[in-house]
Amino acid sequence: MILETEFILQQEIKEITSLTTTWQAPSNIALVKYWGKHGMQLPANPSISFTLNACRTITTVNAVKGEHGFKISYEGVEKPDFAPKIKAFFERISSYSPWIKNYFFNIDTRNTFPHSSGIASSASSMAALSACIIDFESQLTGLDLDYDKMSFLSRLGSGSACRSLQGQLVVWGEHDDTVGSSNLYGVDQTKLLHPTFQNYHDTILLVDKGQKTVSSTVGHGLMNDHAFAKARFQQAPQNLTLLKKALQEGDIETFIKITESEALTLHAMMMTSHPYFILMKPNTLRIIEEIWKYRKETQIPVCFTLDAGANVHLLYPNNHRTAVYEWINEKLAVYCQNSQYICDQIGSGASKLLA
Ligand code: PMV
Repeated sequence: MILETEFILQQEIKEITSLTTTWQAPSNIALVKYWGKHGMQLPANPSISFTLNACRTITTVNAVKGEHGFKISYEGVEKPDFAPKIKAFFERISSYSPWIKNYFFNIDTRNTFPHSSGIASSASSMAALSACIIDFESQLTGLDLDYDKMSFLSRLGSGSACRSLQGQLVVWGEHDDTVGSSNLYGVDQTKLLHPTFQNYHDTILLVDKGQKTVSSTVGHGLMNDHAFAKARFQQAPQNLTLLKKALQEGDIETFIKITESEALTLHAMMMTSHPYFILMKPNTLRIIEEIWKYRKETQIPVCFTLDAGANVHLLYPNNHRTAVYEWINEKLAVYCQNSQYICDQIGSGASKLLA
Protein backbone atom coordinates (compact mmCIF):
# COMPACT_ATOMS: atom_id res chain seq x y z
CA MET A 1 0.00 0.00 0.00
CA ILE A 2 1.33 3.45 -0.88
CA LEU A 3 1.37 6.14 1.82
CA GLU A 4 -0.19 9.54 1.19
CA THR A 5 3.20 11.30 1.56
CA GLU A 6 4.62 9.16 -1.25
CA PHE A 7 2.31 10.97 -3.69
CA ILE A 8 4.06 14.29 -3.01
CA LEU A 9 6.25 14.98 -6.02
CA GLN A 10 9.95 15.22 -5.04
CA GLN A 11 11.62 15.23 -8.47
CA GLU A 12 13.19 18.20 -10.25
CA ILE A 13 10.97 19.78 -12.89
CA LYS A 14 12.16 20.47 -16.45
CA GLU A 15 11.68 23.91 -17.98
CA ILE A 16 8.78 23.44 -20.43
CA THR A 17 6.65 26.46 -21.43
CA SER A 18 3.69 24.68 -23.03
CA LEU A 19 2.29 21.18 -22.62
CA THR A 20 -0.69 19.60 -24.38
CA THR A 21 -2.37 16.23 -24.08
CA THR A 22 -5.70 14.44 -24.60
CA TRP A 23 -7.01 11.55 -22.50
CA GLN A 24 -10.23 9.61 -22.33
CA ALA A 25 -11.59 8.06 -19.16
CA PRO A 26 -14.75 5.99 -18.73
CA SER A 27 -17.50 6.02 -16.17
CA ASN A 28 -17.82 3.06 -13.80
CA ILE A 29 -20.72 1.29 -12.14
CA ALA A 30 -20.38 0.19 -8.52
CA LEU A 31 -21.56 -3.30 -7.55
CA VAL A 32 -20.82 -2.83 -3.84
CA LYS A 33 -21.66 0.81 -3.25
CA TYR A 34 -19.69 3.65 -1.72
CA TRP A 35 -22.13 5.78 0.27
CA GLY A 36 -20.70 7.72 3.19
CA LYS A 37 -17.35 9.49 3.48
CA HIS A 38 -15.14 11.32 5.96
CA GLY A 39 -12.02 13.51 5.99
CA MET A 40 -10.62 14.34 2.58
CA GLN A 41 -12.78 12.10 0.38
CA LEU A 42 -12.10 8.93 2.34
CA PRO A 43 -14.74 6.21 1.95
CA ALA A 44 -16.71 4.90 4.94
CA ASN A 45 -16.60 1.43 3.36
CA PRO A 46 -14.80 -0.32 0.51
CA SER A 47 -16.53 -0.57 -2.88
CA ILE A 48 -16.03 -2.44 -6.15
CA SER A 49 -17.02 -1.49 -9.69
CA PHE A 50 -17.04 -2.58 -13.28
CA THR A 51 -15.27 -0.07 -15.47
CA LEU A 52 -17.46 0.96 -18.42
CA ASN A 53 -16.45 1.49 -22.01
CA ALA A 54 -18.91 3.54 -24.09
CA CYS A 55 -19.69 6.20 -21.48
CA ARG A 56 -16.54 8.30 -21.46
CA THR A 57 -15.18 11.79 -21.04
CA ILE A 58 -12.55 13.04 -23.47
CA THR A 59 -10.43 15.89 -22.14
CA THR A 60 -7.76 17.98 -23.82
CA VAL A 61 -5.58 20.19 -21.65
CA ASN A 62 -3.08 22.81 -22.75
CA ALA A 63 -0.90 24.06 -19.88
CA VAL A 64 1.06 27.26 -20.37
CA LYS A 65 3.75 28.41 -17.97
CA GLY A 66 2.66 31.56 -16.13
CA GLU A 67 0.32 32.65 -13.40
CA HIS A 68 -1.84 29.79 -12.09
CA GLY A 69 -5.43 29.66 -13.26
CA PHE A 70 -7.67 27.76 -15.63
CA LYS A 71 -10.41 28.05 -18.21
CA ILE A 72 -12.91 25.23 -18.58
CA SER A 73 -15.01 24.62 -21.66
CA TYR A 74 -17.38 21.89 -22.76
CA GLU A 75 -17.25 21.13 -26.49
CA GLY A 76 -15.46 24.42 -27.02
CA VAL A 77 -17.98 26.57 -25.11
CA GLU A 78 -16.76 28.13 -21.87
CA LYS A 79 -18.58 26.73 -18.80
CA PRO A 80 -18.14 28.96 -15.74
CA ASP A 81 -20.58 26.74 -13.80
CA PHE A 82 -18.02 23.89 -13.93
CA ALA A 83 -15.35 26.17 -12.43
CA PRO A 84 -15.96 25.75 -8.65
CA LYS A 85 -15.41 21.97 -8.80
CA ILE A 86 -12.24 22.36 -10.88
CA LYS A 87 -10.96 25.13 -8.59
CA ALA A 88 -11.45 22.92 -5.52
CA PHE A 89 -9.74 20.07 -7.35
CA PHE A 90 -6.64 22.15 -8.19
CA GLU A 91 -6.46 23.42 -4.61
CA ARG A 92 -6.61 19.88 -3.22
CA ILE A 93 -3.99 18.43 -5.58
CA SER A 94 -1.51 21.31 -5.39
CA SER A 95 0.37 19.92 -2.38
CA TYR A 96 0.97 16.64 -4.26
CA SER A 97 1.84 18.20 -7.64
CA PRO A 98 3.18 21.67 -6.67
CA TRP A 99 4.28 22.51 -10.24
CA ILE A 100 0.63 23.17 -11.18
CA LYS A 101 0.92 26.50 -9.33
CA ASN A 102 3.16 27.71 -12.17
CA TYR A 103 0.82 26.89 -15.05
CA PHE A 104 -2.40 28.19 -16.58
CA PHE A 105 -4.65 25.34 -17.77
CA ASN A 106 -6.96 25.52 -20.79
CA ILE A 107 -9.29 22.57 -20.37
CA ASP A 108 -11.70 21.37 -23.03
CA THR A 109 -13.90 18.41 -22.32
CA ARG A 110 -16.71 16.40 -23.88
CA ASN A 111 -18.72 13.30 -23.01
CA THR A 112 -19.64 10.48 -25.36
CA PHE A 113 -22.97 10.03 -23.56
CA PRO A 114 -25.84 12.50 -23.92
CA HIS A 115 -25.32 15.58 -21.77
CA SER A 116 -28.57 15.37 -19.83
CA SER A 117 -28.97 11.61 -19.59
CA GLY A 118 -29.02 11.53 -15.81
CA ILE A 119 -25.63 9.79 -15.96
CA ALA A 120 -23.16 11.51 -13.65
CA SER A 121 -20.07 12.60 -15.52
CA SER A 122 -18.07 13.48 -12.40
CA ALA A 123 -16.24 10.12 -12.28
CA SER A 124 -15.18 10.07 -15.93
CA SER A 125 -14.38 13.79 -16.07
CA MET A 126 -12.26 13.87 -12.91
CA ALA A 127 -10.48 10.69 -14.04
CA ALA A 128 -9.72 12.17 -17.50
CA LEU A 129 -8.46 15.47 -16.04
CA SER A 130 -6.24 13.66 -13.51
CA ALA A 131 -4.81 11.54 -16.30
CA CYS A 132 -3.86 14.73 -18.19
CA ILE A 133 -2.18 16.16 -15.07
CA ILE A 134 -0.15 12.98 -14.52
CA ASP A 135 0.78 12.90 -18.21
CA PHE A 136 2.23 16.43 -17.79
CA GLU A 137 3.97 15.37 -14.59
CA SER A 138 5.60 12.54 -16.48
CA GLN A 139 6.71 14.92 -19.27
CA LEU A 140 8.08 17.38 -16.68
CA THR A 141 10.01 14.78 -14.67
CA GLY A 142 10.83 12.06 -17.19
CA LEU A 143 9.17 9.54 -14.81
CA ASP A 144 6.80 6.83 -16.06
CA LEU A 145 3.05 7.50 -15.97
CA ASP A 146 1.89 6.83 -12.43
CA TYR A 147 -1.60 5.27 -12.59
CA ASP A 148 -1.84 5.02 -8.79
CA LYS A 149 -1.31 8.75 -8.50
CA MET A 150 -3.84 9.39 -11.30
CA SER A 151 -6.38 7.48 -9.24
CA PHE A 152 -5.28 9.23 -6.03
CA LEU A 153 -5.67 12.72 -7.58
CA SER A 154 -9.03 11.92 -9.19
CA ARG A 155 -10.40 10.78 -5.81
CA LEU A 156 -9.79 14.30 -4.53
CA GLY A 157 -12.08 15.57 -7.32
CA SER A 158 -14.83 12.94 -7.00
CA GLY A 159 -14.53 9.81 -4.85
CA SER A 160 -15.79 7.22 -7.32
CA ALA A 161 -13.55 8.67 -10.08
CA CYS A 162 -10.61 6.77 -8.59
CA ARG A 163 -12.18 3.54 -9.87
CA SER A 164 -12.11 4.76 -13.51
CA LEU A 165 -8.38 4.76 -14.31
CA GLN A 166 -7.04 1.26 -14.72
CA GLY A 167 -8.58 -2.21 -14.96
CA GLN A 168 -11.98 -3.72 -15.68
CA LEU A 169 -12.79 -4.43 -12.05
CA VAL A 170 -11.58 -2.01 -9.37
CA VAL A 171 -11.70 -2.01 -5.56
CA TRP A 172 -11.44 1.25 -3.66
CA GLY A 173 -11.22 1.33 0.13
CA GLU A 174 -9.37 -0.70 2.72
CA HIS A 175 -10.63 -4.27 2.77
CA ASP A 176 -9.13 -7.13 4.77
CA ASP A 177 -9.68 -9.60 1.94
CA THR A 178 -8.16 -7.42 -0.81
CA VAL A 179 -4.36 -7.32 -0.81
CA GLY A 180 -3.02 -3.81 -1.45
CA SER A 181 -6.41 -2.13 -1.06
CA SER A 182 -6.38 1.49 0.04
CA ASN A 183 -8.70 4.32 1.00
CA LEU A 184 -6.51 6.62 -1.12
CA TYR A 185 -6.82 5.08 -4.61
CA GLY A 186 -8.39 2.25 -6.58
CA VAL A 187 -6.69 -1.12 -7.14
CA ASP A 188 -7.06 -3.20 -10.28
CA GLN A 189 -8.73 -6.57 -9.65
CA THR A 190 -9.22 -7.61 -13.31
CA LYS A 191 -7.30 -10.83 -12.79
CA LEU A 192 -10.10 -12.07 -10.54
CA LEU A 193 -12.68 -12.07 -13.32
CA HIS A 194 -13.90 -15.53 -14.29
CA PRO A 195 -14.53 -15.88 -18.08
CA THR A 196 -18.30 -15.71 -17.33
CA PHE A 197 -17.90 -12.07 -16.39
CA GLN A 198 -15.57 -11.06 -19.21
CA ASN A 199 -17.19 -8.67 -21.72
CA TYR A 200 -20.13 -8.38 -19.32
CA HIS A 201 -22.82 -6.01 -20.57
CA ASP A 202 -24.35 -2.99 -18.89
CA THR A 203 -27.30 -1.50 -20.73
CA ILE A 204 -28.28 1.75 -19.06
CA LEU A 205 -32.04 2.26 -19.24
CA LEU A 206 -32.64 6.00 -19.15
CA VAL A 207 -35.74 6.25 -16.98
CA ASP A 208 -35.21 9.85 -16.00
CA LYS A 209 -32.78 12.11 -17.80
CA GLY A 210 -33.17 15.05 -15.43
CA GLN A 211 -30.47 16.46 -13.19
CA LYS A 212 -29.97 14.75 -9.85
CA THR A 213 -32.19 16.25 -7.14
CA VAL A 214 -29.70 15.42 -4.38
CA SER A 215 -25.98 15.92 -4.96
CA SER A 216 -23.77 13.00 -3.98
CA THR A 217 -21.91 15.24 -1.49
CA VAL A 218 -25.17 15.91 0.37
CA GLY A 219 -26.09 12.23 0.12
CA HIS A 220 -22.77 11.04 1.57
CA GLY A 221 -23.15 13.58 4.37
CA LEU A 222 -26.50 12.08 5.36
CA MET A 223 -24.73 8.86 6.33
CA ASN A 224 -23.23 10.73 9.31
CA ASP A 225 -25.72 10.16 12.14
CA HIS A 226 -27.72 7.73 10.00
CA ALA A 227 -29.58 5.22 12.18
CA PHE A 228 -28.36 2.29 10.07
CA ALA A 229 -24.84 3.55 9.29
CA LYS A 230 -23.01 1.16 11.59
CA ALA A 231 -24.75 -1.90 10.16
CA ARG A 232 -24.23 -0.65 6.61
CA PHE A 233 -20.51 -0.03 7.09
CA GLN A 234 -20.14 -3.56 8.48
CA GLN A 235 -22.22 -5.13 5.73
CA ALA A 236 -20.40 -3.59 2.73
CA PRO A 237 -17.00 -5.29 3.34
CA GLN A 238 -18.78 -8.62 3.91
CA ASN A 239 -20.66 -8.20 0.63
CA LEU A 240 -17.40 -7.31 -1.07
CA THR A 241 -15.80 -10.56 0.12
CA LEU A 242 -18.78 -12.58 -1.14
CA LEU A 243 -18.96 -10.73 -4.44
CA LYS A 244 -15.25 -11.10 -5.18
CA LYS A 245 -15.53 -14.85 -4.59
CA ALA A 246 -18.53 -15.02 -6.94
CA LEU A 247 -16.69 -13.03 -9.63
CA GLN A 248 -13.72 -15.37 -9.31
CA GLU A 249 -15.73 -18.59 -9.42
CA GLY A 250 -18.19 -17.52 -12.13
CA ASP A 251 -21.02 -17.86 -9.60
CA ILE A 252 -23.71 -15.72 -11.26
CA GLU A 253 -26.38 -16.61 -8.73
CA THR A 254 -24.42 -15.08 -5.85
CA PHE A 255 -23.35 -12.19 -8.08
CA ILE A 256 -27.01 -11.36 -8.74
CA LYS A 257 -28.01 -11.68 -5.10
CA ILE A 258 -25.30 -9.33 -3.82
CA THR A 259 -25.50 -6.83 -6.69
CA GLU A 260 -29.26 -6.32 -6.52
CA SER A 261 -29.24 -6.23 -2.74
CA GLU A 262 -26.49 -3.56 -2.79
CA ALA A 263 -28.50 -1.41 -5.21
CA LEU A 264 -31.63 -1.60 -3.07
CA THR A 265 -29.62 -1.01 0.11
CA LEU A 266 -28.15 2.19 -1.37
CA HIS A 267 -31.66 3.46 -2.03
CA ALA A 268 -32.88 2.18 1.35
CA MET A 269 -30.19 4.34 2.99
CA MET A 270 -31.54 7.36 1.10
CA MET A 271 -35.11 6.58 2.07
CA THR A 272 -34.20 6.29 5.75
CA SER A 273 -31.91 9.31 6.15
CA HIS A 274 -32.96 12.71 7.50
CA PRO A 275 -34.00 14.38 5.30
CA TYR A 276 -35.24 11.26 3.45
CA PHE A 277 -35.67 11.12 -0.30
CA ILE A 278 -36.61 8.75 -3.11
CA LEU A 279 -34.63 8.77 -6.34
CA MET A 280 -36.38 5.83 -7.97
CA LYS A 281 -39.32 6.60 -10.27
CA PRO A 282 -42.38 4.43 -10.97
CA ASN A 283 -40.70 3.16 -14.15
CA THR A 284 -37.60 2.12 -12.17
CA LEU A 285 -39.81 -0.28 -10.22
CA ARG A 286 -41.65 -1.45 -13.34
CA ILE A 287 -38.32 -2.34 -14.94
CA ILE A 288 -37.14 -4.19 -11.81
CA GLU A 289 -40.35 -6.24 -11.83
CA GLU A 290 -39.87 -7.03 -15.53
CA ILE A 291 -36.30 -8.15 -14.84
CA TRP A 292 -37.39 -10.53 -12.08
CA LYS A 293 -40.16 -11.93 -14.25
CA TYR A 294 -37.91 -12.42 -17.30
CA ARG A 295 -35.18 -14.05 -15.22
CA LYS A 296 -37.64 -16.50 -13.72
CA GLU A 297 -39.26 -17.36 -17.05
CA THR A 298 -36.14 -17.67 -19.19
CA GLN A 299 -33.42 -18.55 -16.66
CA ILE A 300 -31.28 -15.91 -18.42
CA PRO A 301 -29.17 -14.37 -15.63
CA VAL A 302 -29.92 -10.68 -16.13
CA CYS A 303 -29.87 -8.47 -13.06
CA PHE A 304 -29.87 -4.79 -12.20
CA THR A 305 -28.00 -2.22 -10.25
CA LEU A 306 -28.85 1.41 -9.58
CA ASP A 307 -26.79 4.54 -9.22
CA ALA A 308 -27.85 7.56 -7.19
CA GLY A 309 -30.72 8.14 -9.63
CA ALA A 310 -33.70 6.56 -11.37
CA ASN A 311 -31.85 4.93 -14.29
CA VAL A 312 -31.48 1.15 -14.26
CA HIS A 313 -28.21 -0.58 -15.17
CA LEU A 314 -29.05 -3.94 -16.70
CA LEU A 315 -26.16 -6.39 -16.25
CA TYR A 316 -25.87 -9.62 -18.25
CA PRO A 317 -23.32 -12.01 -19.80
CA ASN A 318 -22.11 -11.53 -23.35
CA ASN A 319 -23.46 -14.88 -24.60
CA HIS A 320 -27.06 -13.82 -23.85
CA ARG A 321 -26.84 -10.45 -25.56
CA THR A 322 -29.04 -11.21 -28.60
CA ALA A 323 -31.99 -12.45 -26.57
CA VAL A 324 -31.62 -9.64 -24.04
CA TYR A 325 -31.47 -6.92 -26.75
CA GLU A 326 -34.73 -8.24 -28.19
CA TRP A 327 -36.38 -8.24 -24.79
CA ILE A 328 -35.16 -4.69 -24.04
CA ASN A 329 -36.69 -3.44 -27.29
CA GLU A 330 -39.93 -5.30 -26.79
CA LYS A 331 -40.54 -4.83 -23.08
CA LEU A 332 -38.23 -2.31 -21.43
CA ALA A 333 -37.75 0.56 -23.90
CA VAL A 334 -41.31 1.78 -23.20
CA TYR A 335 -40.28 2.59 -19.63
CA CYS A 336 -37.36 4.76 -20.78
CA GLN A 337 -37.63 8.48 -21.53
CA ASN A 338 -38.01 8.77 -25.31
CA SER A 339 -37.30 5.00 -25.42
CA GLN A 340 -33.62 5.76 -24.87
CA TYR A 341 -30.99 3.44 -23.46
CA ILE A 342 -27.22 3.16 -23.76
CA CYS A 343 -25.54 -0.14 -24.60
CA ASP A 344 -22.33 -0.35 -22.65
CA GLN A 345 -19.94 -3.09 -21.63
CA ILE A 346 -16.97 -3.63 -19.34
CA GLY A 347 -13.95 -1.60 -20.46
CA SER A 348 -10.42 -1.21 -19.21
CA GLY A 349 -9.90 2.36 -18.06
CA ALA A 350 -8.23 5.58 -19.13
CA SER A 351 -5.99 5.95 -22.18
CA LYS A 352 -4.12 8.66 -24.00
CA LEU A 353 -5.48 9.76 -27.36
CA LEU A 354 -3.14 10.89 -30.07
CA ALA A 355 -3.60 14.46 -31.25
O1 PMV B 1 -18.17 9.74 -6.36
P1 PMV B 1 -19.42 10.34 -5.81
O2 PMV B 1 -19.18 11.23 -4.65
O3 PMV B 1 -20.27 10.98 -6.88
O4 PMV B 1 -20.32 9.15 -5.18
C1 PMV B 1 -20.81 8.09 -5.94
C2 PMV B 1 -21.75 7.28 -5.16
C3 PMV B 1 -22.48 6.18 -5.89
O5 PMV B 1 -22.40 6.35 -7.29
C4 PMV B 1 -23.94 6.20 -5.50
C5 PMV B 1 -21.95 4.79 -5.52
C6 PMV B 1 -20.60 4.43 -6.06
O6 PMV B 1 -19.90 3.69 -5.36
O7 PMV B 1 -20.25 4.85 -7.18
